Amino acid sequence: MDPFVFNQLASRMVFGAGAVRQVGVECAGLGVTRVMLVHDASATAPADDIAVQLGPTMVLRWHEVAQHVPVALADRARDAATAAGIDAVVCVGGGSSTGLAKAIALSHRVPIIAVPTTYAGSEQTTIYGLTGGRHKQTGRDAAVLPRVVVYDPELTVGLPPTVTGPSSFNALAHSVEALWAPGCNPVTTAIALEGVRAIHASLPTVMAHPSDVDARGRLLVGAALSGMALGATSAGLHHKICHVLGGMFDLVHADAHSVVLPHVLAFNAPALPAEMAGLAAALGVPVGEEAAALWDLAVASEVPTRLADLAGSGRSLQRDDLRAVAEAAAGEVTTNPRPVDTAAILGVLERAFDGHRPTVTTAARSAS
Ligand SMILES: NC(=O)c1ccc[n+]([C@@H]2O[C@H](COP(=O)([O-])OP(=O)(O)OC[C@H]3O[C@@H](n4cnc5c(N)ncnc54)[C@H](O)[C@@H]3O)[C@@H](O)[C@H]2O)c1
Repeated sequence: MDPFVFNQLASRMVFGAGAVRQVGVECAGLGVTRVMLVHDASATAPADDIAVQLGPTMVLRWHEVAQHVPVALADRARDAATAAGIDAVVCVGGGSSTGLAKAIALSHRVPIIAVPTTYAGSEQTTIYGLTGGRHKQTGRDAAVLPRVVVYDPELTVGLPPTVTGPSSFNALAHSVEALWAPGCNPVTTAIALEGVRAIHASLPTVMAHPSDVDARGRLLVGAALSGMALGATSAGLHHKICHVLGGMFDLVHADAHSVVLPHVLAFNAPALPAEMAGLAAALGVPVGEEAAALWDLAVASEVPTRLADLAGSGRSLQRDDLRAVAEAAAGEVTTNPRPVDTAAILGVLERAFDGHRPTVTTAARSAS
């Protein structure tokens, strides 16, 4: 076996139906006394609950949140944080709220207490992102890893199917790409495969019965594991393509993951026989059917499967846009199981644009 290094990230997880009522106690446990509460409109109810728990400890409540953390928004939030003299950030909401909290933690070096309400998984990583113009810049800093994550499946019951499905694919992408991303090792593979198993087994139940708290809980565990898998490895070809798409066209982040994942997987699968055997077992399909199985799950979950159907920045994505995306992504990918260049990425993007059920042989032949 090859030698490896696994860095376990130091974060406390509090999980359970009704766990949102523990946020005040968790803040007290950290000894913080001047809390900034960050959330968007979708999280007003749990934020109200948290505000009551915090009482006078909450010195600032911030409602303005946007996908991909625009720099101007981060600057406004940071100025308000400075003026209020905060010593901690509590964020409740999806990856966008967590992302803004991370931007503040990055500049102010204060702890984050995160209460996720989607399956994005950002709360388990040291990765932050800020978008200026049409480019999303990401980086890593231990200061942005939440010190405490409170997972309450009851908060996800109202998540609409149009967010639940793609957000689950965002989580699946973390686990699937962790099978080959730089930094992967037997420990991250075990975490990632369990993440895949949990999501694959629970997502159909959640889509059919959105208020099934138990199934929501199993899906949230899968999302947490997937976030841990991403946090312990790094972004590979799939995440680079999605970040470029998000930064250039302001596409809904999770929708881009749903569409692109099966096609990147089909492209890389021929170079990953051992990893695909594990993934096939986790998905319960014959070896060689992994990418198709993810596409089938996407169709069954009614998530987007064609780049042609995605819109951002006020217009839908055009086939002519794909070359610029391929060139930008090729400039960002450092390592990949198969050799990858602009032409190969363009092939992946074109197949994702058309959105047909992927086969490993088609992806392998067109890239060779
Ligand atoms: N840094 C990382 O490690 C990391 C990992 C994954 C994603 N991200 C980032 O996270 C962002 C995407 O996160 P996201 O997909 O959660 O999007 P989001 O936070 O924008 O949420 C998506 C939508 O769902 C709504 N919503 C959230 N929770 C809800 C609930 N419980 N009920 C009803 N509506 C709810 C939000 O208001 C929003 O309209 C992107 O910017 C992405 O880059 C970062």
